[in-house]
Amino acid sequence: MWGGRFVEEPDPRVAALLTSLPVDRHLLRWDLLGSLAHVTSLAEAGVIPPLPAADLARALREMLAAADAGTLALNDGYEDVHSLIEATLASRLGGATAGWLQTGRSRNDQVVTAFRLDVKDRIRRLVDGVTALQGILLTRASQVTDVLIPGYTHLQKAQPVLLAHHWLAYFWMLNRDVGRLRDAFRRVNVSPLGSGAIAGSGFPIDRARQAALLGFAQISENSVDATADRDFAFEVTAAVAGLLVHLSRWAEELILWTTQEFGFIALPDGIMTGSSLMPQKRNPDLLELARAQAGGGLGSVVTLAVMLKGLPLGYNRDLQEDKAPTLTAFRAAEMATAALHLVADRMVVQRERMAAALRGGFLTATEVADYLVRRGVPFREAHRLAGRVVLAAEAARCDLWELPLEAYRNVSPRFEADVLQAVTPEGAVGARDVPGGTAPGRVAQALEAARATAVIQRAWLEQVRVDQQAAEARLLEAVPV
Ligand code: ARG
Repeated sequence: MWGGRFVEEPDPRVAALLTSLPVDRHLLRWDLLGSLAHVTSLAEAGVIPPLPAADLARALREMLAAADAGTLALNDGYEDVHSLIEATLASRLGGATAGWLQTGRSRNDQVVTAFRLDVKDRIRRLVDGVTALQGILLTRASQVTDVLIPGYTHLQKAQPVLLAHHWLAYFWMLNRDVGRLRDAFRRVNVSPLGSGAIAGSGFPIDRARQAALLGFAQISENSVDATADRDFAFEVTAAVAGLLVHLSRWAEELILWTTQEFGFIALPDGIMTGSSLMPQKRNPDLLELARAQAGGGLGSVVTLAVMLKGLPLGYNRDLQEDKAPTLTAFRAAEMATAALHLVADRMVVQRERMAAALRGGFLTATEVADYLVRRGVPFREAHRLAGRVVLAAEAARCDLWELPLEAYRNVSPRFEADVLQAVTPEGAVGARDVPGGTAPGRVAQALEAARATAVIQRAWLEQVRVDQQAAEARLLEAVPV
């Protein structure tokens, strides 16, 4: 394969060490599209004769159809997916025809073209999955707008919040994850094709047209940069890892909430796992695995950063190690997203347990202090007096809204009968009436805002899907016949 410069056959032990085929076989369809765009622009520029161009395009189209149908044989024993495609073309068309394909192109611009196309598609599919998960969150949140739970800080009961408010927190976390993925998408969406090995193609190909035929929004500015950097993979993987960190927090919380100690939600048998030894056990393995996925995602970020660190320009074979960690991160995120989707869809809210948890922890003590502030007591003094009320309730073994008004008035004469309503969980939640707060009216507005955000997100997804489809249709129209 390496041509006339080589006088010795490759050492048979080398191939297995060099090969990236087990990983980059996932780039098959994207590399075929890249090759089709390349042949098209070579033909359009009159760089290669019409006949080999048409033969190459036909064979590549057949291979693309077979690849999409999953019927293209992917024999091992090639160095990478690019050599596999070249060898397949040679065996179908003969070396004289197939030999035109690599004109003015290197595997260096080829591989990063295919990789960018693949990453774009993976971002779209992942955002699609996250959007669906957010949809479930919205559905579940809108079913429980009347349910209160303790909000926790330091995992100690803090203040009552609406369950819907609590779940919407995850919606906005996921919304930022999607924002980071979409932002990264813009920087992935750049065509490196035509950069050659390092210096740019030696032939007058129309790079902008190639980019359009592949669905890239723009072309790279510098051939050395385009072939040597993989910061887009690092950036996307970091965004994916951020998503995984969020999903692991939610998974952990759901695990906690399914314990007998919390019991805030129940999960049906169908999504639980048993023990091979303990007959009574029902375990949330699905959530535990979702929680664990963050490790693979974060590991991938480090792998990519260290791969790039200190690497001299331009292309180095180190860069072949870009695909496996990127794939690992996406797979981890797909698993965690799907697992949480399933759990969020099937979990059963245990309203009585949530209501019971609002008792006993004096969660509305802040409200006692705020009540006094509204009647002219400086907050620090109000805080001290509210502490006395808590002590009184503790001694009386009752909740703050059950303490007799007399006990309140013993602490401060400013307390009136309406304090007993103000210090109920409902009173406390209703008083948090600021944008972003947990008052029911605010949460209803937040649900609306979240729904509107989800609509915009779905429109983006649809646009990306349609753009790619249109580009592929244009490409298949344009190929030489
Ligand atoms: N499999 C290689 C990769 O993933 C393709 C590029 C090889 N280029 C080279 N100059 N050896 O990076």
